[in-house]
Amino acid sequence: MDQSVSLAGLNLKNPVMTASGTFGYGLEFTPYGDLTALGGIVVKGLSLKPREGNPMPRIAETPSGMLNAIGLQNCGVERFLSDKLPRLPWKETPILANLYACDPEEFGRLAELLAAEEGVAALEVNISCPNVKEGGVLFGQDPAQAAKVTEAVKKRCGTKPVMVKLSPNVADIVAIARAVEAAGADSLSLINTLTGMAVDVRTRKPRLANVVGGLSGPAVKPVALRCVWQVSRAVNIPVVGMGGISSAMDVLEFIMVGAHAVQVGTANFTRPDFAFRLVEDLPKVAASMGVTSWESFRGSLDVG
Ligand SMILES: Cc1cc2nc3c(=O)[nH]c(=O)nc-3n(C[C@H](O)[C@H](O)[C@H](O)COP(=O)(O)O)c2cc1C
Repeated sequence: MDQSVSLAGLNLKNPVMTASGTFGYGLEFTPYGDLTALGGIVVKGLSLKPREGNPMPRIAETPSGMLNAIGLQNCGVERFLSDKLPRLPWKETPILANLYACDPEEFGRLAELLAAEEGVAALEVNISCPNVKEGGVLFGQDPAQAAKVTEAVKKRCGTKPVMVKLSPNVADIVAIARAVEAAGADSLSLINTLTGMAVDVRTRKPRLANVVGGLSGPAVKPVALRCVWQVSRAVNIPVVGMGGISSAMDVLEFIMVGAHAVQVGTANFTRPDFAFRLVEDLPKVAASMGVTSWESFRGSLDVG
């Protein structure tokens, strides 16, 4: 079966991408597999200036998942463009830059810098920034704010496709998805982490220095599937699903509820070669489930 997927201006050789923040800048994973085998690589969230992130501890294990409060540590856009991107196989594999900023203007500036680079295939806009200037609202929790950021990025991204990454920490994810689509997004990715916390009764301390963090891994998969199912039925742009994917069957679940492609996050921590093995396993597992094309299988969930 042909594994390729076309996704709002991107041609992926297979539906498996790596999720932002869980695969470094890609280069760290070259000992574990061939980066060019992946459908796409989404790099660690980039900001205009380098960021050190939050104090330690900033990772805690949970039942079937993990909590993180990394705080978007990254080397900044300049260093990414000068030191990292040229070493990535961008001619063979689409590299998606994940953007993080604290107001729409800054999102726009970042988008312009990244979109000007030949090696950046598309932009993924993270609208779950907790420290926004405007009223302290998370961009991803307010349809009007989410639309504003999308517009700012679209205005300055040239011809590069824009994927907007949605937060599950909302009452109505469909309302946000529709607002972002109307503002010009080319595709959507979901879900980002769910807000959570972990505590230690013996020390009476939170397990994260930041107290709260983002929950990811298999624990969040049911939430992610629900979000992808609801959103993909409500919009006309393609949806990329993620949240707890840790097997080829999980990928089939996401595609069956409506995803065009998927991203793998926390599983990269459990097994650094996971995404590469997944690319190998997927055709066999798809065949064993009678899947003959992604297009006919996508959204084929029978809800009666
Ligand atoms: C340690 C860590 C760092 C992350 N950093 C980012 C980031 O920089 N930008 C972003 O959009 N999402 C970030 N995420 C969210 C993931 O990309 C993904 O949306 C989420 O973990 C759900 O997928 P998973 O359950 O497969 O991990 C991060 C997740 C983890 C675990």
